[in-house]
Amino acid sequence: ISSPLVDTFNRKHNYLRISLTEKCNLRCTYCMPAEGVPLTPKENLLTTDEILKLARLFVSQGTTKIRLTGGEPTVRPDLLEIIQGLGELKSQGLESIGMTSNGIALKRKLPALKKAGLDTLNISLDTLDRDMFGIMTRRQGFDKVLGAIDEAVRINVERVKINCVVIRGTNDDQVLHFAGYTKDHPVNVRFIEYMPFDGNRWKSEKMVPYRELLTRIESIYGKLTKLTDDKNDTTKAYQVPGYQGKLGFISSMTDHFCDTCNRLRITADGSIKVCLFGNSEVSLRDLLRQDQSDEKIVQVIGNAVRRKKRKHAAIA
Ligand code: GTP
Ligand code: 5AD
Ligand code: SF4
Repeated sequence: ISSPLVDTFNRKHNYLRISLTEKCNLRCTYCMPAEGVPLTPKENLLTTDEILKLARLFVSQGTTKIRLTGGEPTVRPDLLEIIQGLGELKSQGLESIGMTSNGIALKRKLPALKKAGLDTLNISLDTLDRDMFGIMTRRQGFDKVLGAIDEAVRINVERVKINCVVIRGTNDDQVLHFAGYTKDHPVNVRFIEYMPFDGNRWKSEKMVPYRELLTRIESIYGKLTKLTDDKNDTTKAYQVPGYQGKLGFISSMTDHFCDTCNRLRITADGSIKVCLFGNSEVSLRDLLRQDQSDEKIVQVIGNAVRRKKRKHAAIA
């Protein structure tokens, strides 16, 4: 009998993304309306213990990588406790703990998070221009984000990535600035093709295909070196020769990577989602609160994984 984390297309899901909260201290225009998103009542969110219980179950079934996401994970008061608890799973097969953060409230927290077991950090930053940052995020805080990136590098976080969602006519000119930024910043800047989500006013003209970005960068910086990509990596990695950092492209729209998808998600209210673009499948929180057995919960997870489709619905 095969593992519950293997789907009907034989994809092995060893990467779990856990959303800690729907709240965020920014209001990026491509992600949220100005007034924010509707929040789940607090009593319906997973508690610290429930998160760690689910993480332990997934690790027991073969999950080797966990990433904490949001909203913005640093707004969760128990973030450090959660990472400490996940750190203890490293003796049971967990290999990597990552977090995706907007960096606003991160710098001061980082040393303790690293000590607790945080291995890798992805920081969202769409522009190197302070005014444009204010427009894109509808908030201030540009210098805090740069400070968080520098701190991550300073304390030797194993791998620091910057996520830049590229929107034509808004920040596509920033791509060249970011390429320059990698000269003396040992970070991996990734340009992400803008994706459609409910209500984010996506238009195909606003999405810049990664090949176009590559051409634009090479017209200024010369031919980039192609680096090798790991099997499940969503990024096509490049480097300006001689620069400390790297550049990458996440081609979710023009060259999707569903065939090698190894991700599962848990929403902040404890449902499992098998695809970024899909709906929640089933509430694991309810099972936990009914005191269902580990076997039962694993079985429900397996059933959800077997319903996973071959590719996401946002692309034809
Ligand atoms: P690592 O590979 O572990 O560094 O993480 P990641 O790049 O998967 O995670 P991150 O949270 O930094 O997400 C960056 C971007 O990856 C997002 O903006 C999405 O565009 C894309 N992404 C993440 N997960 C998925 C997914 O399941 N499907 C698709 N199509 N895109 C995804
Ligand atoms: N398209 C592409 N990436 C997005 N993100 C948020 N919304 C979108 C979108 N519509 C990115 C954030 C963050 C990552 C988890 O997802 O910038 O870095
Ligand atoms: Fe969305 Fe993240 Fe920006 Fe918050 S920081 S608005 S969750 S992209």
